[in-house]
Amino acid sequence: MNPLDNFRLDGRVVFVSGGGGAIGSAIATALGAAGADIAIADIDQGRVDAAAETIRKSGARCLPLAGDITKEAEAERIVKAVVDHYGRLDILVNAVGGGAGKVLFGAENYPRDAWDWIMELNLRSTLIASQAAARQMIAAGQGGRVVNISSVRAQLGIDSGYSAYVAAKGAISSLTRQWATEWAKHGITVNAIAPTFVDTPQVATLLGDPDFKAGIVNRVPLRRIGETSDLVGAVIFFASAASSFVTGQILTIDGGLTATQ
Ligand SMILES: NC(=O)c1ccc[n+]([C@@H]2O[C@H](COP(=O)([O-])OP(=O)(O)OC[C@H]3O[C@@H](n4cnc5c(N)ncnc54)[C@H](O)[C@@H]3O)[C@@H](O)[C@H]2O)c1
Repeated sequence: MNPLDNFRLDGRVVFVSGGGGAIGSAIATALGAAGADIAIADIDQGRVDAAAETIRKSGARCLPLAGDITKEAEAERIVKAVVDHYGRLDILVNAVGGGAGKVLFGAENYPRDAWDWIMELNLRSTLIASQAAARQMIAAGQGGRVVNISSVRAQLGIDSGYSAYVAAKGAISSLTRQWATEWAKHGITVNAIAPTFVDTPQVATLLGDPDFKAGIVNRVPLRRIGETSDLVGAVIFFASAASSFVTGQILTIDGGLTATQ
């Protein structure tokens, strides 16, 4: 057997939560190109429809669903819609999150409303989608894959008012290990990617400041900002049979940044 066949996802059904976003849509498109049938959900109807059109144009099947994944009933409805449409659910990618650049406050005065919003957007979205998907995977008894998006900020502090975001991403990295441990008995693996800054609208304002951007790039041994295309290979690996014996792992995708710390 060709070992590259292990990276194919033919016959697999992927649900990308936040699939209308910059990173989620790039991941969904790549998993579709690897052979999977795709479902994407996003709170923003326009984004989810636009992403679905791109994914379909690239030749994959795509089911777009609008909804708020931080709400349990919505997550249940969305997962049921995926299974009703495709007959199964094999892989969940949690790509809802971000927001850090919009609420930059000193740690000593970090406001409660900003804290709650970042926790809801990053941590609760990941928790609720994973619970709904895992219940489905456990009931179906065919195993599964969960891929979370953490951040190098789970490991590294940054002097830019990021208290809530680092806390949320640290919790996502911890839950990756916890769920990997608990759900292994069901044949479900749980892994995460942890990127540094990726060139997306989320971080456009921060990276638009030439001094900030130069400071980041100069700390990265490979001397550039990440691209969404830098993330998809790792997600295909974690989503596919190629990673059958890999669970609870967090892969930093950071041009070598954490290697220098
Ligand atoms: N962009 C970066 O530099 C970077 C770096 C490291 C990690 N990340 C992480 O990658 C993930 C994706 O980031 P992105 O840059 O693609 O952001 P994005 O804003 O482009 O995508 C997030 C998507 O989630 C959707 N969303 C928000 N709340 C939702 C909800 N309640 N229910 C359903 N959908 C909802 C948004 O509409 C959006 O389309 C986030 O977890 C982010 O923290 C991003």
